[in-house]
Amino acid sequence: MNVASAPPSATPDTAAPTLRLSRPDDWHLHLRDGAALASVVAHTARQFGRAIVMPNLKPPVTTAAAAVAYRQRIMAALAQSVAPGQSGADFQPLMTLYLTDRLPPDEIRRAKDAGVVACKLYPAGATTNSDAGVTDLRHIDATLEAMAREGLLLLVHGEVTDSEIDLFDREAVFIERHLIPLRQRHPGLKIVFEHITTKEAAQYVTEAGPLTAATITAHHLLYNRNAIFLGGIRPHYYCLPVLKREEHRRALVAAATSGSPQFFLGTDSAPHPAHLKEHASGCAGCYTALNALELYTEAFEDAGALHQLEGFASHHGADFYGLPRNSGHVTLQRTAQTVPDSLPFGAQAEVKPLRAGETLRWSQLN
Ligand code: NCD
Ligand code: ZN
Repeated sequence: MNVASAPPSATPDTAAPTLRLSRPDDWHLHLRDGAALASVVAHTARQFGRAIVMPNLKPPVTTAAAAVAYRQRIMAALAQSVAPGQSGADFQPLMTLYLTDRLPPDEIRRAKDAGVVACKLYPAGATTNSDAGVTDLRHIDATLEAMAREGLLLLVHGEVTDSEIDLFDREAVFIERHLIPLRQRHPGLKIVFEHITTKEAAQYVTEAGPLTAATITAHHLLYNRNAIFLGGIRPHYYCLPVLKREEHRRALVAAATSGSPQFFLGTDSAPHPAHLKEHASGCAGCYTALNALELYTEAFEDAGALHQLEGFASHHGADFYGLPRNSGHVTLQRTAQTVPDSLPFGAQAEVKPLRAGETLRWSQLN
């Protein structure tokens, strides 16, 4: 990918309202690897100062050395996509390790020294590339203790994988069965409940105290589960955890716009080749990185809460991670734009962004 394939900035319209925010961060992102990485990294870099990069590659990122090597590949892809001085050139990936039953506690020390900021817990089999995930949380208590000691955060994909539990109930059951006991065993660990999708999760986080936080995606703020079936099956609205009922969407909007520092932006932008989503067994993941800020702005505007967007997008996450807030800014304008139908993805494929071919009310100017 080259500079030209980054999305064009909107033409300023002096009459339309604008919104200036401290440069935001994306606290949950899938960048992939190789040619796919090169196709998407500029989209995130244009909008966000930093991003927490998920480690669910094939094979997963399970050592400090692998995280350092992945970070170098991301920086090389960025340098190919964004010219020095151009918006996004100073983007910083924040690296994570993928927890397995066998990640040794001493690797946590090496990870900390290598600049890794968090470890991701995927219950084995919960989602894309999670086969090597943790089969029983009690297997990793020593590693979690090392993380609390070193100040690494635990990022949780909070869904049970038990096939007897209804797909739509997997997050709520995870809280009762796993998260509450985990929180009790490790009271000093910072935990981010990733991409929450239910009122139960929003309530749990609100009541769990200042060392527990949650990320919320733009698509879970904007859509309920009807979006997956509107006029026919719509694979580009299928992600994990799956979209839930309207009452849950409303609870997420209330949490995101509440001003609570426990809730912050994490897109969970998860690109897949379009042909593997439009498939008999389609992959889970929504590609939102192209216009993530515009999507969040719509959701906050619909809730009458644009004044809360900067805290959610630019302050709360950095504060929770114990990192400085970004110094730059982004400006959005209330000027409509049309989302492209598709974008190149790797050598052969294409990726379809969420809302492909449809209109967004806001556009990023810089
Ligand atoms: C993610 C992916 O494709 O890597 N998919 C998704 O639906 N969110 C994995 C994940 O975060 O669950
Ligand atoms: Zn994810």
